[in-house]
Amino acid sequence: MSTVLPRAAAPVPFGRSLRDGVRRLAEAAVTPLELGDVLDVFHPLRKGADLRGRIVSVTAETADAATLVIKPGKDWAGHVPGQYVRIGIDVDGVRLWRTYSLTHGPRADRCISITVKGIPDGVVSNHLVRKVRPGQMIQLGQAAGDFVLADPMPAKLLMVTAGSGITPVIGMLRGLFARSERITADIVVLHSALSRAEVIFGDELRQYAAEGRLRLVELHTDTHGMLDVDDLDTIVPDLAERVTYACGPVGLLDALEAHHEPKGLPLHIERFRAPMVANANDGQSGGTLSFTKSGTVVEADGATPILDAAESAGVLMPSGCRMGVCFGCVLPLREGAVRDLRNGQLTIAAPGDGVIIQTCISAAAGPCHIDN
Ligand SMILES: Cc1cc2nc3c(=O)[nH]c(=O)nc-3n(C[C@H](O)[C@H](O)[C@H](O)COP(=O)(O)OP(=O)(O)OC[C@H]3O[C@@H](n4cnc5c(N)ncnc54)[C@H](O)[C@@H]3O)c2cc1C
Ligand code: FES
Repeated sequence: MSTVLPRAAAPVPFGRSLRDGVRRLAEAAVTPLELGDVLDVFHPLRKGADLRGRIVSVTAETADAATLVIKPGKDWAGHVPGQYVRIGIDVDGVRLWRTYSLTHGPRADRCISITVKGIPDGVVSNHLVRKVRPGQMIQLGQAAGDFVLADPMPAKLLMVTAGSGITPVIGMLRGLFARSERITADIVVLHSALSRAEVIFGDELRQYAAEGRLRLVELHTDTHGMLDVDDLDTIVPDLAERVTYACGPVGLLDALEAHHEPKGLPLHIERFRAPMVANANDGQSGGTLSFTKSGTVVEADGATPILDAAESAGVLMPSGCRMGVCFGCVLPLREGAVRDLRNGQLTIAAPGDGVIIQTCISAAAGPCHIDN
């Protein structure tokens, strides 16, 4: 078999023309597969491929939380501590996307890490904590998010975290303490967990406290009860001088906002889920979701985000933060009605309309035709 390389209009550097030629030759040899398909099998982390990562290790942190170290593809663009990454993983044959804060500090091996806490009935979190194994591939997005330390750093910080809410903050602390210059900021970490054994990164946080890098206040809710934000002024007497960064359950974050805002205290919040007004017991009727391109039809209740309902039925959906912030999940609603789960507001599309909806915070409120 002979291969004729096309005549170049302008001189092409020898290395490039040879590479192009070899590439075309290889493409012909593997027809009908594209060369990209073949390379995906042998070099899935190469430059120019869809961004993926290979799981390097899975290490238990507590009984229901684990850290995954992941080698990202060559196009991984790095992150600022506190940011998150979207990961896509197949669970029972369905590609599901979730968002996880990056927990690593600087690493010589260029790997990244996330720390996942399995939640009751959580499809992806429990899969990541208990089922995935080193060597498995996952899809990755680029790092995103604005829950990062201000530059220059505030002189006094208060980190209020609970449960898995420690994850973006440990990323910040690891990033800070790995710096060559001495960190002069005065840092208080107030962390709540069910018990001492449930504190994710407990040993590391206690070590930082023992070294005088921060003041750690641990609240074990099995013995101390939940944090009452009115106690903050007692626990942190100079609260008014601190910039607060907080991540944890919705109730804690809402209470902190209610506490800080009237006093004009600076507060940065990372939410793992959007506050929703609707829930499954509201009795809001849902509807039939018809996806025009894939032809899939799904019955959805009035409290389940369209994104979740569609993914559970195997529809490949665009997504991002899954909490109404990034607009990575928007799709045109051609006809039908959806309810915004955050405030109950209805959006109605007449036949032929292309009203853009955020599928992660919208539920069906009648039959819907969605372009996807
Ligand atoms: C910016 C951001 C950063 C995040 N970082 C982390 C992290 O570092 N570590 C981590 O463990 N998780 C993190 N999360 C949460 C994570 O994305 C998933 O929501 C979580 O793992 C649950 O997914 P699942 O598939 O297991 O649950 P699903 O199967 O989707 O849901 C199961 C049940 O749990 C409820 N639920 C869903 N999400 C949550 C939640 N976060 N808290 C309580 N109940 C929930 C659902 O309504 C449903 O009833 C982050 C989320 C965001 C938006
Ligand atoms: S996934 Fe981010 S807004 Fe919907």
